[in-house]
Amino acid sequence: MPIMLLPLLTTLALLTTSFFIFSLLYDTLSCYLFTPRRIKQKMAKQGVHGPKPRPLLGNILDVASLLSKSTSSDMPSISHDLVPRLLPHFLAWSSQFGKRFIFWNGIEPRMCLTETDLIKELLSKYSAVSGKSWLQQQGSKHFIGRGLLMANGQNWFHQRHIVAPAFVGDRLKSYAGYMVECTKEMLESLEKEVKSGRSEFEIGEYMTRLTADIISRTEFESSFEKGKQIFHLLTVLQHLCAQASRHLCLPGSRFFPSKYNREIKALKGKVEELLMEIIQSRRDCVEIGRSSSYGNDLLGMLLNEMQKKKLDGNNGLSLNLQIIMDECKTFFFAGHETTALLLTWTVMLLATNPTWQNKVRAEVMAVCGSETPSFHHLSKLSLVSSYQVLGYRSSLDLRGACSLVNILSRNVTLWNAWL
Ligand code: HEM
Repeated sequence: MPIMLLPLLTTLALLTTSFFIFSLLYDTLSCYLFTPRRIKQKMAKQGVHGPKPRPLLGNILDVASLLSKSTSSDMPSISHDLVPRLLPHFLAWSSQFGKRFIFWNGIEPRMCLTETDLIKELLSKYSAVSGKSWLQQQGSKHFIGRGLLMANGQNWFHQRHIVAPAFVGDRLKSYAGYMVECTKEMLESLEKEVKSGRSEFEIGEYMTRLTADIISRTEFESSFEKGKQIFHLLTVLQHLCAQASRHLCLPGSRFFPSKYNREIKALKGKVEELLMEIIQSRRDCVEIGRSSSYGNDLLGMLLNEMQKKKLDGNNGLSLNLQIIMDECKTFFFAGHETTALLLTWTVMLLATNPTWQNKVRAEVMAVCGSETPSFHHLSKLSLVSSYQVLGYRSSLDLRGACSLVNILSRNVTLWNAWL
């Protein structure tokens, strides 16, 4: 009997293996060849064209070459028009191919819309079906993982709901104390340097350290020294993950034990080890009764929420430790570089406009006098606020966010165009 079964089992094993290989081959071809070709043809039929993509790489090299040209030298003068410098491909291709064009980030199409009404309609009407692409999610998998910035659909809705209390008025007010404290420390260290005879400063570095300190304190309160170590590792990880498009072009390359992949995994491991140490020490405090909650900072808020869900027996979309760690990393990333750029740009504008510098200084002196600036002074600082708005707009540009990348999870028709 076992002798009769053997050929049958061998045939079955062969059939399963060939089916597996065939479906893998089909999926790879479909993903890397058939689907991009189908999208390209469909767009071309509607009159939407773009630069010719290279196999696997798409237009990544074209973007890199245009960018290296536009940023090869310093800006001749300070200008708020940063798009030609930071997004030269958008300008070049929109003038060549028109108001709607398509280019390729590897095998992923990027449909570019420049008409404001169309963009508004897309963002308002189809926000539920738009989100982050596979390449974006894969590229930041070991960095911010499945945190809010990379979540789509129901997960995004669920995670957004959980972190929303971190941004309500009273909580924001409570962060003001940390902001003042960290800024004071930074100003004191600057003053010391000036007194010791130094006259030139790379102000961006100071602002980066300042915003990292603030985020460390708002996220991890008492454990903020460890937060700073996490910040350092995350910065290195962020730079490595920014090169992901190039490293993910080859099919299956994310599984290769390359130097790049090994470095990223090792850094991710270190970051999560530190985060787990903070989480564990808070759990211990609650378990031995030294504390009744996990804390009032962002991490504490997320841990309290997870505990509440467990007690409620909520089996829906769960908030597990991995999501909590991803959310902490997301806030680090989303909240620190953006604000550092905003502050650096604002200081640079003030430094180059002595008249406005004097006006802003006079306003601060009139409103705060000898008091330490606090949350309730903010509404009275109208000149400072308008300067911040200018800086905010530029920090959006500097971050490249004037190009919003959203991927549609299903096809939609917008103004008779199929996307
Ligand atoms: C000048 C400062 C800032 C600028 C210019 C800025 C800009 C942006 C932009 C453009 C997005 C959308 C990104 C996308 O979907 O691809 C975004 C999302 C986000 N930002 Fe900021 N941001 C700033 C400050 C902050 C701060 C201080 C925090 C938190 C501490 C923060 C947390 C987030 C989060 C969590 C998201 C994801 C929101 C979601 O998907 O629902 N941001 N930010």
